[in-house]
Amino acid sequence: MSEHKTYPVPETIAAKAHITQDLYATMYRRSVDDPEGFWAEQAERFVTWFKKWDKVMDYSYQADDLYVRWFDGGKLNIAYNCLDRHLDSRGDQVAIIWEGDNPEEDRKLTYRELHAEVCKLANVLKSRGVNKGDRVCIYLPMIPEAAVAMLACARIGAVHSIVFGGFSPDSLRDRILDSDCQTLITSDESVRGGRHVPLKKNADTALTECPNVNTVVVVQRTGGSIEWTEGRDIWYHEAMANAATDCPAEEMDAEDPLFILYTSGSTGKPKGVLHTTGGYLVFAAMTHKYAFDYQDGEVYWCTADVGWVTGHTYIVYGPLANGASSLMFEGIPNYPDVSRFWQVIDKHQVSIFYTAPTAIRALMRAGEEPVKKTSRASLRILGTVGEPINPEAWEWYYKVVGDGRCPVVDTWWQTETGGHLITPLPGATALKPGSATLPFFGVVPALVDPAEGTLIEGPGEGALVLMRPWPGQMRTVYGDHARFVETYFRQYPGYYFTGDGARRDEDGYYWITGRIDDVLNVSGHRLGTAEIESALVLHPHVAEAAVVGYPHDIKGQGIYAYITPMAGIEPSDALKKDLVALVRGEIGPIATVDIIQWAPSLPKTRSGKIMRRILRKIAANEIDTLGDTSTLADPTVVNDLIDKRANQ
Ligand code: WT7
Repeated sequence: MSEHKTYPVPETIAAKAHITQDLYATMYRRSVDDPEGFWAEQAERFVTWFKKWDKVMDYSYQADDLYVRWFDGGKLNIAYNCLDRHLDSRGDQVAIIWEGDNPEEDRKLTYRELHAEVCKLANVLKSRGVNKGDRVCIYLPMIPEAAVAMLACARIGAVHSIVFGGFSPDSLRDRILDSDCQTLITSDESVRGGRHVPLKKNADTALTECPNVNTVVVVQRTGGSIEWTEGRDIWYHEAMANAATDCPAEEMDAEDPLFILYTSGSTGKPKGVLHTTGGYLVFAAMTHKYAFDYQDGEVYWCTADVGWVTGHTYIVYGPLANGASSLMFEGIPNYPDVSRFWQVIDKHQVSIFYTAPTAIRALMRAGEEPVKKTSRASLRILGTVGEPINPEAWEWYYKVVGDGRCPVVDTWWQTETGGHLITPLPGATALKPGSATLPFFGVVPALVDPAEGTLIEGPGEGALVLMRPWPGQMRTVYGDHARFVETYFRQYPGYYFTGDGARRDEDGYYWITGRIDDVLNVSGHRLGTAEIESALVLHPHVAEAAVVGYPHDIKGQGIYAYITPMAGIEPSDALKKDLVALVRGEIGPIATVDIIQWAPSLPKTRSGKIMRRILRKIAANEIDTLGDTSTLADPTVVNDLIDKRANQ
């Protein structure tokens, strides 16, 4: 079985790697035995502090008194760390390489240029009354202004909340309201795969219900026509033209908030994951340098969108803190054609390439020719993130894209974790296709038997928890600390519960098996079944909806919805279409329901709880292993669903 295949560290990589196998072992031991000493050293190495901290770490994982603090008393500014401190040594080095959707369009910004832009926008924000601690919503395409906006907020101590440009007006509205943002930075339109998306129009729609937003800064991306609200809306380029290029970097406390990022959970609306300043930056910089073995002068490309945490940590904060040249791509993998990624790698001489399994699987379908017609000789390290990668896709990535030369780092982490927690280090870790391998420094994973609640020793499978904090950990759910406690610390007392299941093999390697809560991972995008169900039941013809994931060749998981229509409503294809459109409209195109099955009734326990386990099995066509159905109020419902599934 390919699971047992192991790829040793290539000697050429180990020869100049930051972390080799022995060093990993000693450093890991130290990080666990002496976390205070270890993290103090890393914090000195990776971050420039205005004032040193009083205490390295302080925490309690007890549900009734839950808190996590790192580098308390320390003072720093993240924009200063990502920009100012590089100006003397690398002011003229490229910080951001922007590759447009259209292959003819690109831009480069040096550290000096980026610094000037960030200072100008920081002054613009200040002139509109944005103060330290205020929340600023960013709803932008993948253009350099997105990074400028993030860093401008960080420079003045404003808290950014980025909303992915693919989200709907309703999703944008909910996020703006939840964190009470009074400023929004957006653009006229975005461009992806040659198509324009009306971001400003979406924003206008969202803002009809956000009375507190008093400023909308609009970047002109396409020149498409937009509506204008006098007094509220200002053009980015006009405001920037008059802004000064110097702006002091606010002294922030290590535990001051840096950003909020909404992510889906198993219940209710998306929650605002809050990250703070000092620990996050130390962790972002350190994981970026070591997991990718980033070497000075290399061009590094992460294909994520800044609307996700991957874009925050591994396009902007980590790479720029390390003085890297970070490539930012506006487009999609198959435009103008399926060779685009590889062409961009050649064009900009990319050394490190970081993408998602869903993209790899989709490109794998297009065959080797679009890859092989490019050189890719600049590549040194490959990475994946977002969902489990199947060994076949891993092998293809390794052999075809990397020509068997480049280690593949399969990095496991979450919005909540701020950065990589389980990942190979290219010069230190032998690779097994499909395994995220071993914990990063300071990270202590464990497996818990979900039924017994006891820790599993040695090889085994269970719920993946973390036994102690790491500097990049989220600190709370914005405005709802109780939800933070309930979501992550209630189920397995004393531990942070990740929501994932995992297996540990005889070498101590971790194999993430996927979510074990009601969260779906569709093309690496996280969606709660509850959110999708809430959207579906908005339809007047829907009595009840139950959503589960099912295995999908490209997306990893697809969305499968069981719908019980209102009495007297005839199921129809037209209604199916309406429902798909409804969910896309409520959440965004990433929430496209793949399969709708009509369900005259749903399998429920006697207490009325839907048994999703059974629905998941039927959706996956695993009807031989349905398990116990005797606790159902009406077991015949199941056979009926199975018959219907077969007939659709
Ligand atoms: C969930 C977190 C972390 C940035 C992107 C997603 C899944 C993530 C891996 C991986 C297996 C992975 C997990 C996790 N996941 N990386 N390398 N192998 N699963 O962030 O939206 O917060 O989703 O993505 O299920 O819990 P996110």
